[in-house]
Amino acid sequence: MPVERSKLLSMIEAARWAPSSKNEQPWRYIIFTNDNPEKLMEAQSVLLESNAYAKRAPILICAIAKKNYSEGGKYNRLHFHDLGAANENMFLEAFNQGLIMHEMGGFDVQKAIKVFNIPEDFEIGVMIAIGYQDKYTVLPERFREKAFSPRERRKLSEIAYVEEIGKGLE
Ligand SMILES: Cc1cc2nc3c(=O)[nH]c(=O)nc-3n(C[C@H](O)[C@H](O)[C@H](O)COP(=O)(O)O)c2cc1C
Repeated sequence: MPVERSKLLSMIEAARWAPSSKNEQPWRYIIFTNDNPEKLMEAQSVLLESNAYAKRAPILICAIAKKNYSEGGKYNRLHFHDLGAANENMFLEAFNQGLIMHEMGGFDVQKAIKVFNIPEDFEIGVMIAIGYQDKYTVLPERFREKAFSPRERRKLSEIAYVEEIGKGLE
């Protein structure tokens, strides 16, 4: 099922407003949709087999980040941090719009650099698939469990410490 252009725009708008170091806004998004199936297929070709399910999505995005500050040209060690923040904004807006967004690190980076013609001063972060949730029954069996099982996270005390590492917040 295609995704409405207004929803895509509101997701990108959400990403656009993320905070970033020195307000560099290092994120860039190369967007492919089923408006142009040929180009979408080309973009899908960088995905690893483990992420083949994402080929069902009507939107595929290559998310990249500029490595150096525009002013002065120094290395921006926070470029990926800031890309992640923008991606998360996009993620939350996707859910707000009733969509599913999935970030993927499982793709052929070298191939992606060629396919998407990524300039030297940019680094590829993730591929992003966006679409409406498939029904349980149309999902290939090996993806069903993952898509519909309860979500899991570390305990609070494992990720938040009081005053020293290891002294978990209760
Ligand atoms: C940067 C990043 C890369 C990811 N790469 C993949 C991937 O290549 N394939 C995949 O199936 N899931 C990928 N995921 C999804 C994570 O596996 C998923 O977020 C995690 O298991 C927690 O599941 P939940 O988000 O559904 O709670 C990625 C998530 C992030 C944030």
